[in-house]
Amino acid sequence: MIIQPRTRGFICLTSHPEGCAQNVKNQIDYVKSKGEIKDGPKKVLVIGASTGFGIASRISAAFGSGAATIGVFFEKPAAEGKPGTAGWYNTAAFEKEASAAGLYAKSINGDAFSDDIKKQTIDLIKADLGQVDLIIYSLASPRRTHPKTGVAYSSVLKPIAVPFSDKTVDFHTGVVSDITINPIDNEEEIENTIAVMGGEDWKFWIEDLKAAGVLAEGVKTVAYSYIGPELTYPIYRNGTIGKAKDNLEGTVPALNELLADLNGVSYVSVNKALVTQSSSAIPVVPLYISLLYKVMKEKGIHEGCIEQMQRLFAERLFNGADVQLDEKGRIRVDDLEMRADVQAEVSELWKQVSTETLPTISDIAGYRDEFFHLFGFNFPEIDYTKDSNELTMIPSIA
Ligand code: NAD
Ligand code: NA
Repeated sequence: MIIQPRTRGFICLTSHPEGCAQNVKNQIDYVKSKGEIKDGPKKVLVIGASTGFGIASRISAAFGSGAATIGVFFEKPAAEGKPGTAGWYNTAAFEKEASAAGLYAKSINGDAFSDDIKKQTIDLIKADLGQVDLIIYSLASPRRTHPKTGVAYSSVLKPIAVPFSDKTVDFHTGVVSDITINPIDNEEEIENTIAVMGGEDWKFWIEDLKAAGVLAEGVKTVAYSYIGPELTYPIYRNGTIGKAKDNLEGTVPALNELLADLNGVSYVSVNKALVTQSSSAIPVVPLYISLLYKVMKEKGIHEGCIEQMQRLFAERLFNGADVQLDEKGRIRVDDLEMRADVQAEVSELWKQVSTETLPTISDIAGYRDEFFHLFGFNFPEIDYTKDSNELTMIPSIA
C-alpha cells in the first residue's frame, strides 16, 4: 500500500510505518549520542508510552540507561486497507530496536483507566520483571470511563469565567484569524475535565501497583504538566485543563505518603510546549508554538520531546544529586521556554503575527513538518511513492 498523509483538521488519519520507525530511530540515535545516563532506571513502566512525551520517555529509559520497559497505550493496528495508528508503529519499531540491543520491551494495548488493564500490567510485571523502579505517567485523553462507577467523563478545553478572544492559526493553510472561545456552561465541565486529566487515575495506578508488591525500594513516579505563557493562561493554565493540571500536581503529597515506606517519591515535571497529537487540538497554542520554535531555534535552544525527556532523566531525575524543584515542588524542564528573553521576544512577535507576516516571523513550516513527523511523514530518508511493506509490524502485545 502507498501511504500518503490524509488530514482532517488537526488530525492525520493515516500513518506511515517506515516513517514512524525513522522517527523512533532518530530519537534513539539522539539518546545514544548523549551518552549513558548513570544511575538511571532499570525497570520502567510507561503509561501513555506510544507517542509524544511517553515514547520519548521510554526511549530515554531504554537507550539512556539500558532499562527494561513495559509500555501501556491505546492504539490501533492496520485494518481493511487502512494503516494502523502512529503509536502502534512507533511501538513496533521501538521494540524491534530494543530487542536488537538486548533490551526487554513488552506492551499492553488497552484502556489504561480501566482496572483490567492495570491488572494485566501488574501480572506482566510479576511474570517478567518482578518490580519496577520508575513509573512514567504520560496519558493524554479526551475521555475517561471511571473504573469504579462506570461514569464516562469528557474533558473540555474552555476558559472558566469569561469568553477568551485571541489569535489562532490553521497550521495547514497558515491563515491567522481571531477566535473567541466561550467559557464553561457549568461547573460540571471543570469536574469532568479533572476526572479525565487530573491525578485520580495516576493515584489508582500507584495504589494498585503498591498493593500488588511490584514497586521496588526507592521507586520514582513522574507525571507531566504544563504552565506556559500568560497569553495562553485563559485557555490553558487558568482554563479547565489547567484545573486538571492543578489536581494532578496536587496528587503528589498523597503519592509521597503512599510511597514513603518504600523510600519512594513522586514528581510532576512541567514540560515545554511541543507539537504532539494532543497539543495540536488546543486553540491558540499552535500559533504560540510556531512563534516559540522560531525564537528558540534562533537562540540555539530548541528542544523536541526526546531532547526534553533525555534532559529530564539525565539532569533532573538521575543526576546523581538532589532533584531540583520549584517553589511548588515541581520539576521544571520548561526552563528554556519560560526564559525572560524568550518570552519577551515571543510576545513581541505575537503582536505582529498575521496571515501575511506568519511565513516570515514564525516557524510555521517547522510546526507543520513536526506535525507530519508525528505520523511518520516528511522524513527525507523515506520514499513515500513506494509501497509500504511494514504494515504488518506489530508490537509484542502481552
Ligand atoms: P500524546 O497524545 O502524544 O500521548 C498520549 C498517550 O496516551 C499515547 O501513548 C496514547 O496512546 C495514550 N492514551 C490515551 N488514552 C489512553 C487510554 N485510555 N489508555 C491507554 N493509553 C491512552 O500526548 P503528549 O502531548 O505526549 O502528552 C502527554 C502528557 O504530557 C500529558 O499529560 C500532557 O498534558 C503533558 N504535556 C504536554 C505538552 C505538550 O505541549 N504536548 C507540554 C507539557 C506537558
Ligand atoms: Na505521551
